[in-house]
Amino acid sequence: MKSKELRQLYIDYFKKQNHKEIYSASLIPENDPSVLFTTAGMHPLVPYLLGEEHPSGRRLVDFQKCLRTGDIDEVGDSIHLTFFEMMGNWSLNDYFKEESIEMSHRFLTEELGIPQDKISVSVFGGDDEVPRDMATFNAWRKLGYPEERIHFYTRKENWWGPAGETGPCGPDTEIFYDTGKPACGPDCGPACNCGKYVEMWNNVFMEYNKTKDGVYEKMSIHNVDTGLGLERVLAIVNKEESIYDTELFRPIINKISELTKVSYDDADEDTIFAFRVIADHMRAATFILGDDKAVTPSNVDQGYVLRRIIRRVMRYLKKLGTCDGVMVEIAKVIVENYSEIYPELKRNEQFIYDQLTKEEVTFNRTLDQGMKVAAKILDKMSVGEVLDGVTAFRLYDTFGFPLEFTQEVAGEKGISVDVEGFDKCFKEHQEKSRAGAEKKFKGGLADASAETARLHTATHLLNGALRKILGDGVYQKGSNITAERLRFDFSFDRKMTAEEIKAVTDIVNEAIRKDIPVVCEEMTVDEAKAAGAIGVFGDKYGEKVKVYTMGEYSKEICGGPHAERTGDLKCFKIQKESSSSAGVRRIKAVIDFE
Ligand code: SER
Repeated sequence: MKSKELRQLYIDYFKKQNHKEIYSASLIPENDPSVLFTTAGMHPLVPYLLGEEHPSGRRLVDFQKCLRTGDIDEVGDSIHLTFFEMMGNWSLNDYFKEESIEMSHRFLTEELGIPQDKISVSVFGGDDEVPRDMATFNAWRKLGYPEERIHFYTRKENWWGPAGETGPCGPDTEIFYDTGKPACGPDCGPACNCGKYVEMWNNVFMEYNKTKDGVYEKMSIHNVDTGLGLERVLAIVNKEESIYDTELFRPIINKISELTKVSYDDADEDTIFAFRVIADHMRAATFILGDDKAVTPSNVDQGYVLRRIIRRVMRYLKKLGTCDGVMVEIAKVIVENYSEIYPELKRNEQFIYDQLTKEEVTFNRTLDQGMKVAAKILDKMSVGEVLDGVTAFRLYDTFGFPLEFTQEVAGEKGISVDVEGFDKCFKEHQEKSRAGAEKKFKGGLADASAETARLHTATHLLNGALRKILGDGVYQKGSNITAERLRFDFSFDRKMTAEEIKAVTDIVNEAIRKDIPVVCEEMTVDEAKAAGAIGVFGDKYGEKVKVYTMGEYSKEICGGPHAERTGDLKCFKIQKESSSSAGVRRIKAVIDFE
C-alpha cells in the first residue's frame, strides 16, 4: 500500500462515519506560545476541544504534519521520528469511548486487514485522582479482545496531554501492533520499548482541562482525540521492518547513498544510524523551511530547533564523508515526494534550498573557528572531567555549537558536559529574547488611531509591492506600527538594491494616487485561498475570515483596522532597509498624513 492510499483510506473511512475532513495546519502554531511546533493533530483544535463550536461540526478527521523534538534521541531505531504525519479523528462532545474504540478496531482489522490477534491495547489503570477506566476496558472486551491483551498502566503511560502547559487532557487507550518478536522478559508488554510492540494509535478521552495552577478540572463536555502514526502504520501494513524501509524514506536513503557513495543495505550499525538521522532530520528541516511561516535558522525558538537539526545532519554527513551541497539535493527528493500532498513545499522550494545552503556556509565557517577554541579548552582538561555549562553555552552562542555537538566533541576525549549549567544559561538567554519579543508585540497595532490604521494599510500595499518586485518568496515575518512609522519584516535573503526600493515605493505611491477603496469581505479560508489572498491560513478551518482588498495591489487575510481609501495615505516613503535576522529584511517607512 502506498502512503497516499493509506491517507485516503483513513479519511474515507471516517467520512463514512460522518466525519468532516479538515486540512493539515501549519507546523508552526499560530498565537500559541506554549509550544514551538505542532506536536499532534489535536493541537490546532484546542479551542474546539475546550468547547468552542467548530464550523465543520462535531466529527472531524484529518492528517496533520507534526514535529516532536522530545524523541530526537530515539531517532535512528525502527520507529521514532522528529517530523511525522499523524492521522486523527475527533469527537467534539459527540461519540465517546465505546464508539471510538469500535471505529479504531474496525479500521485496523477490516480496512487495513491487520489480524486482531496481533493487536494489544493499554488502558488507564487509575490513581488517587481518577478511577480505573473500566468503560474502556469493557469496550475492548466487547470486541473480543482477551484480558491478557488489555494492559492497565499508570498515568505515566495512559494519560495524554495537555500539549503545552495547560489545556484539554484525559485518560487514553493505546493500540499496539505485536511484531511477533520474542518477549524480552517476563514483564515485557506494550509499555516496554524492546521493539516487540509498536504503538500505532492513541485514543484520548478528553474529560479534563489542566489549568495554569496545575489543577485537572473536569470539563462539562467530553471529547475524543485520536492520533494514528502514518509512517508506522505504513510499515506495518506493508510488512516492512522499519519506517525507513517505507516509500516515504527509501528514496531519501537512496539519495544519501548516491551522494555520499556509501552503501546503506549492507552497512554497519553506526552507518545505518547516520543514514536514518540524516533522512529524518532532513525531512524535518525541509518541512519547517517549507512552511509558509518561513522560519529561518537562528539562535532562538523554532529557528534554533531548525538550526540544531540542520547542523546535526551536517555532522552525520561529514561522518559519511561528504557534506558540501548534499543537503539541498536530499531536500529536492523530499519536496518532490511530498508536494502533491503538501503544496507549500513547492511554493517555498527555493527558500528551502537557499536557507540550507546558507546555513551550511555559516556552520562550516564557525565550525572551524569553534573547533580550534574547543580543542584549546578540552586539551587543558583530563578524562573524567566535566566541561562547565557557561563554556558550553559560549560555544553554542558564539560558534553555533549545539549542545549535543559539544557533548560529542568532549565525549571523544572522555569529558562530559554540565548539561544543567548549559540549560540555565540557555534559559536566561531565551528569557531575554522573549522579553524582547513581548516588547515588540506591545508596540504592535495596540492603538487603533486613524494614523496607525493608515500605516497598516500602507503595510499591506508594501507587502504586495515587495512580492511583485522581489517575488512570491517574500512573506511577512513581523509588523510593528507606531503612530509615526511602520516597520515591516519579511523573508528575503539579501539587501535590496536602490532600484528595487524605488520600484516598490513607486508601486505603493501609484496605488495611493489611484485612491482605491479598501474593501473588506468576510469569507471562509478556502474562499480566501481561492481568491488568492495572502496571510496566515492557520487553524481556522471553514471559519469566516476577513479579507482586505485594495484593487490589484493587495489581498490579505487580516483583522484590520484600515484606512477607507488608499488615497488617505497621501505619500509613502521608505526610510531604511536593513537586515533583521538571517534571511529576514526590515523596512521602516512613513506616510504623509496631511
Ligand atoms: N493527542 C494524542 C497524541 O498525540 C492523540 O492524538 O498521541
